[in-house]
Amino acid sequence: MTDNPILTLDNVTKSFGPVTVIKGVTVNVYPGKVQVLLGENGAGKSTLIKMMAGVHQPDGGRILVDGEKVRLADTNASEALGIATIHQELNLVGSMTVAENICMGRFPRRFGLVDRRTMRNTAKAALDRIGLHIDVDHKVGELGIARQQLVEIAKALSLEARMLILDEPTAALTKREITALFAVVEDLRSRGVGMVFISHHLDEIAAIGNSVSVLRDGEFVAEVPADTSEDELVRLMVGRSIEQQFPRRRDYDGPADTLLEVNGLSTKGLINDVSFSVKAGEIVGLAGLMGAGRTEVLRAIAGVDPYVNGTVHVRGKELPKSSIGAAIRAGVGHVPEDRKAHGLVLGAPVNENIGYATLAATAKSGLVDRRGQRKRAQDVADKLRIRMQNLDQPVGSLSGGNQQKTVFARWIVTNSSVLLLDEPTRGVDVGAKVEIYELMNAITAAGGAVVMVSSELPEVLGMSDRILVMSGGHISGELAGGDVTQDAVMMLAVRDVQRDLEDKLMEDGHE
Ligand SMILES: Nc1ncnc2c1ncn2[C@@H]1O[C@H](COP(=O)(O)OP(=O)(O)OP(=O)(O)O)[C@@H](O)[C@H]1O
Ligand SMILES: [Mg+2]
Repeated sequence: MTDNPILTLDNVTKSFGPVTVIKGVTVNVYPGKVQVLLGENGAGKSTLIKMMAGVHQPDGGRILVDGEKVRLADTNASEALGIATIHQELNLVGSMTVAENICMGRFPRRFGLVDRRTMRNTAKAALDRIGLHIDVDHKVGELGIARQQLVEIAKALSLEARMLILDEPTAALTKREITALFAVVEDLRSRGVGMVFISHHLDEIAAIGNSVSVLRDGEFVAEVPADTSEDELVRLMVGRSIEQQFPRRRDYDGPADTLLEVNGLSTKGLINDVSFSVKAGEIVGLAGLMGAGRTEVLRAIAGVDPYVNGTVHVRGKELPKSSIGAAIRAGVGHVPEDRKAHGLVLGAPVNENIGYATLAATAKSGLVDRRGQRKRAQDVADKLRIRMQNLDQPVGSLSGGNQQKTVFARWIVTNSSVLLLDEPTRGVDVGAKVEIYELMNAITAAGGAVVMVSSELPEVLGMSDRILVMSGGHISGELAGGDVTQDAVMMLAVRDVQRDLEDKLMEDGHE
C-alpha cells in the first residue's frame, strides 16, 4: 500500500487572458517522494507549482491537501499548510541582509522588538545545513547569483515544511553545491517530506527523483519512473530525439584576424592582469569555479564595470573604459549571467527587449528602422523557438527559459561580431540548448568570435576551440586540442583556491 498524497493537483487548467497554458493536468505529491516535473521551456512547469504555492489559482479542476479540497488564495495560505517553495526567479530583497531575508515574514521578537540575535542564529543554522558559510549581515544584493540561490534554499528549508517545491534550484549552482543540496533532499525524503523538483539537467533526475511527470505545451504527456533513460525522457519531452548534443562545427575559412584583444586587465576587486585574444571564427571557453572572476572579465570588456589597468581592443581599435554604448557600437554583444538584474526590461514587450541594442547602436545615426527591426526580431524568435503569444507580450510573463532565449536573441539581431556569453544556456531546455549552439556556430562561421563562460564542463568542452581556465582572478592556464579533459580543467581551476581559502579564513577570524 502506498501512502496517500500530501497534495494533488486534480485535472487543473489555467489561462492567462485568452491563452490556456495548463490543460487538465493531474499531479500527486507523496510523502517521502520526489516528484519531478519535466518539459520544454514554456511547457507549464512553473505555472503548475505556482498553483501549489498559492501564487496562481486554477481556473478549473481542484487542489487537494490530505484529500480535502482547498483554496490556496495566496502564498501565506500555502505556507500555513506546510508547503515551502523555492521559485525559479529569486524572491529575495537585495537591500536586506541575508538574515533578514531568511527570516522574512516571521522575525523573532523579544519585548516587542525584533530579536536580531535569534534571527542571526536562525539564519546561520539554516545556512549551515547546506554548507554555506557567509556573513549573515551581508546585503543579499551584493552576493553573486549562486549564493543568492543558496540563501533562497536555506530560507525555504528553515520553514521546516512537510512539502518542498524546488523550481530549478540547481541552475546556478556548481557541482559541490548541488551535492550538498541533494544530501539535504535525501535527509528530507527520509523524514517523509514530499518534494517537487524541476530541472533541465536530465542527469539529476535519476539521482534525485522517484517519479517524473512529463508535460508538453500545457498538457500531461506521461508519468514514468525517474530511472527512465535520458534519451527516452528527451523523446517524451520534445517529441523527437536529439542527435548531437554539442554540434560544434568549424566552417570559417576567412582570414584569422584578431577580433578581441585583452591586455593586462585588472579591476579593483577581483581580476588581476588578465590577457588573451580571440580570432575570427573561434569559440573560446572561460572555465573556472564560482568567484574565479570569469563574469567580471566579461563585464569589464562589455563596459559594464570599470577597470583600473589594461586595455581592450576590438578589431585593433581600443575601447574606452566603462562605456556600454561604445562596446555595442564596436560590435560587442554581452549576454549577462543575471538576466533579471542586467539583461531585460521585464515590463517591456519582447520586441523592444530584442531590439534594445539595435536601437542603441543606430540611435546615433538617427536611423531607427522599426519595421525592419520587428521582422528581424520575429525571425530570431522563430529560430530560437521563443514561446510567446506575440512580440508584444511583456517579457516578464514569458517562462524563465524563454526569457533567457530573449536575451540571447537581442545580440543575434544586432549582428555582434564579438559575443560575450555568460552561462548562455542556464535554465534552457535540451532542445533549445542545441539551437543556441547552432547560432554560436553560425556566428563563428560568418567570421565572428565568441567568448563563453559556463559552469557546465561538458558544454565548455563540447563547444570551445580553446579553453582558458581562471582561478583567483587570473588565467591559470590554457587548454586546447588533445589536452582538454574535465580533469585538466579542474586542476587549473582549483590552483589558487587553497590560497584564497586561507585568506578567507583570516578574514572570518577578524569578524
Ligand atoms: N503571468 C503570465 N501572463 C501571461 N502568460 C504567462 C504568465 N505566466 C506564464 N505564462 C505563460 O505560460 C506558459 C508556461 O510558462 P511556465 O513559466 O509555466 O513554463 P515552464 O515550463 O516553467 O518553462 P521554463 O522551463 O522556461 O521555466 C508560457 O507560455 C508563459 O509565457
Ligand atoms: Mg519555469
